Amino acid sequence: SPPFPVPPFFLSGVNMSEVATQVFAGQKPGTSGLRKRVEEFMQDHYMENFIQCTLEAMGNDLPGSTLVVGGDGRYGVTLAVDKIIKMAAANKVSKLIVAKDGIMSTPAVSNVIRTQKTTGGIILTASHNPGGQNGGDFGIKFNCANGGPAPTDFTDKIYKLSCEIKSYRICNNLQCDFSKVGTTTFVVDGSHDFVVEVVDSLDDYVQMMKDIFDFGMIKDYLKSVKILVNSLHGVTGPYAERIFGSELGAPADSFLKTNILPDFGGGHPDPNLTYAADLVKAMSEGDYAFGAAFDGDGDRNMILGAKAFFVTPCDSLAVIANNLELIPYFQKNPVNGYARSMPTSAALDRVAQVKGKECFETPTGWKFFGNLLDAGRIALCGEESFGTGSDHIREKDGIWAALAWLQILAARKQSVEEVLKDHWATYGRNFFTRYDYENCESDPCQKMMDELQAFVDDSGNIGKVFTSQSGKSFEVSKADNFAYTDPIDNSITTKQGIRVFFSDGSRFVMRLSGTGSSGATVRLYVDTFEGDKEKQTKSAAEMLAPCIEVALQISKLPTYTG
Ligand code: G1P
Ligand code: ZN
Repeated sequence: SPPFPVPPFFLSGVNMSEVATQVFAGQKPGTSGLRKRVEEFMQDHYMENFIQCTLEAMGNDLPGSTLVVGGDGRYGVTLAVDKIIKMAAANKVSKLIVAKDGIMSTPAVSNVIRTQKTTGGIILTASHNPGGQNGGDFGIKFNCANGGPAPTDFTDKIYKLSCEIKSYRICNNLQCDFSKVGTTTFVVDGSHDFVVEVVDSLDDYVQMMKDIFDFGMIKDYLKSVKILVNSLHGVTGPYAERIFGSELGAPADSFLKTNILPDFGGGHPDPNLTYAADLVKAMSEGDYAFGAAFDGDGDRNMILGAKAFFVTPCDSLAVIANNLELIPYFQKNPVNGYARSMPTSAALDRVAQVKGKECFETPTGWKFFGNLLDAGRIALCGEESFGTGSDHIREKDGIWAALAWLQILAARKQSVEEVLKDHWATYGRNFFTRYDYENCESDPCQKMMDELQAFVDDSGNIGKVFTSQSGKSFEVSKADNFAYTDPIDNSITTKQGIRVFFSDGSRFVMRLSGTGSSGATVRLYVDTFEGDKEKQTKSAAEMLAPCIEVALQISKLPTYTG
């Protein structure tokens, strides 16, 4: 041990410099932050520009602020953390809480913002988009003091600044090792202090999960069944091993792809039947009772039962809503209502109706749940895009969703499939599917959307009948482009998706994705309700095929996209 007492922190002098830069076109945050190909992001000054604009968008809140920074482990994260430390110092941020090695899941960052009461946080992720130096995506997003994604007026401000930027501020001689937990204080230009606190990425999050769920009960349940968890080489790997393994006792062979890789092993870190096909295969061949997969930054989840029985995210949300009282957190905290994004099926609404709770339909994107959560109007919310979460934080939370399911299974002593069948028997079944047409040319897709707009604007289309090849007819009962008035701040968001409703209760929705990094992605969502028990166990593919066909007829999507 050293012969002198080690001070709790080191002081080190650094200097700010102002670096001239030029505007980069297209730094407009989408549904969830700015996402671009790595090559675009790694151009000289590109990342610095966006970081500078993000910090400046904070306005008067910037000087003296405390921010959190963490990322999903993809290529570019450590580089970005280093730049953010240097630029935060130069922009008069007082304190930066940095995840060790720059790695922290999106829900965990949201939690740190809330528990440490910081001014906000910067999350380095392109979520479920592929990563890596060659052809992968990178992303940066800002979360506000409530722990949730910045609202549109904030991201609009970032974009506006990015169109005018002439210089950025950086402390180039600041060296900070963020691979070790600890606190360092830097003195910028001999005038103000800047503190960097490197924190363990797991501790606070694990504690929060222990406060929400009954770990003892889940641990007992896991003595009798096997589970399989797939992190798709994303950020949840260490969280999953610690929570499901060390804490809840699942043996080592319960985990797939829990080592974080900067390119996610070349895969697409999106937990769905396509990109988590290895989980589906292992579940169908093995004797696991429960399976879960998570996306790159840990906010999405997919839930499977024995023999790879698939739970749609829409049903997962409705089942959790129906069983909330089995989770200790919701026994202690009021549940006033639920919310779902507009394209998500109305399975949740049926539970809300029976339970006498409010139910809100919001535009796509987690940021639209923020006000409702903050106001205590909702305790649970979700999206069809494999996002489920509650008011414990202000992001969707993959690990939380898997734990919610395990708690429900442990309490109900039923299999996943039995829980679903009971649910459908009680509430009826909403069949749901989504088709994604990726990497399309932008112009024809825009034309298609314009034509759909004309279709919904023409009231003469109400009552029109369209027939599928199989002979099933659909009569248009209502059509619009979804608009939303936020019940808390009365802000209005328009053009959130073309909706066409049919008289038999089916509907389709079409919208352009706001998270893609190039070209256009068209999303087609189709759902229908079935109250007849006999038909509830049919496959969604079979039940929805005629309506999908009619959606393609009305939109002329094959013609527009080829
Ligand atoms: C997609 C999903 C949306 C989700 C978002 C971020 O956005 O559809 O539900 O909130 O990713 O995970 P989109 O690409 O459709 O704009
Ligand atoms: Zn994500």
